[in-house]
This record gives sequence, structure tokens and C-alpha cells, in this order.
Amino acid sequence: MTNDEKREAYRELRLQVDGLAAVGADPIAAMANVAAAVHAAVPYSSWTGFYRVVAPGLLRVGPFQGPVACVDIPFERGVCGAAARSGETQVVADVEAFEGHVACDSAARSEIVVPVKDAAGTVRAVLDLDSHSAAAFNDVDREELEKLVHRIAPTITPV
Ligand code: SME
Repeated sequence: MTNDEKREAYRELRLQVDGLAAVGADPIAAMANVAAAVHAAVPYSSWTGFYRVVAPGLLRVGPFQGPVACVDIPFERGVCGAAARSGETQVVADVEAFEGHVACDSAARSEIVVPVKDAAGTVRAVLDLDSHSAAAFNDVDREELEKLVHRIAPTITPV
């Protein structure tokens, strides 16, 4: 996909997600629909979903689309842990070169993880997309997914 095609797909996704967000305030329901909408909009994503912070320093798999995934990821591990720990989006062009990458799907080649923060800046969850293509995610994905996550963040309250 070209960057222009990505932008257009994300623009449509934003409109769709704005409609979903209006539906209700249940965080699991919101994450489920957002994961489905993002997965459908991003054809190069092989796995799209959320890991929620369920205890201090611990992520647990939440609503997702794609193959069965690892359940628990401590903040010290993986790309998801790095995003949760730092509060910064992680774009990984080659997961094999990422120290501590958690390989839930051996066919995964690249990954992007965006932290979902509450109004106080505390990380409540992360949105993770994997791809079977190397370097599938770039600054367009980062910018657009950060925008998207910012819109849904108020819904992602602790369960
Ligand atoms: N690869 C991730 C783990 C989650 S799965 O990809 C679904 C990581 O290193 O954090």
C-alpha cells in the first residue's frame, strides 16, 4: 500500500470508529469493535488487538482479531512491554532484531504497538498490530494509529 492509500484507509477507519465510540462506554465492547475495524482497514496486519494493563507491570491479551495469542506479557518483555513501559509507540521493522520480542506467531515479521493512556497519562492498554511482511508499518501508521487511539482512549477505563 502506498502512503496515500494508507491515509485514505485510515481516514475511513476514523469515521467508522467515531461512530462506534458513540455506541457505549463499555471498554471491552469498544476494544472488540475497534480491533475488528482496524483489522479490516489495515490489510497488511496479521494480528490486531489490545493488551490491557491488568496489574502493575502486567499486560494481558484483550479483544483481538487474528491467530491465538500469548496471554500475559510483563512490562519487561516484548514490543508490547516496551510500549507500556515507555509510554511511546514502538515501530519495529524486523521483530527478529528486537531484543526480547515475544513471538506469538512465528510468521510475524514486523510490528507496531501504540500505548493507550488515560487523561493523567497512565498507560491502560496497548494497541498491537503485527504483519507477516517486513517493515510493514511506517510513520503514517504511527501517526494515524496514535490519532485513533487518542480518540478512543477515554473509553478504555479499568475493568
Ligand atoms: N509480539 C508481541 C507480543 C504480542 S503478539 O505479537 C500478538 C511483543 O513482542 O510484545
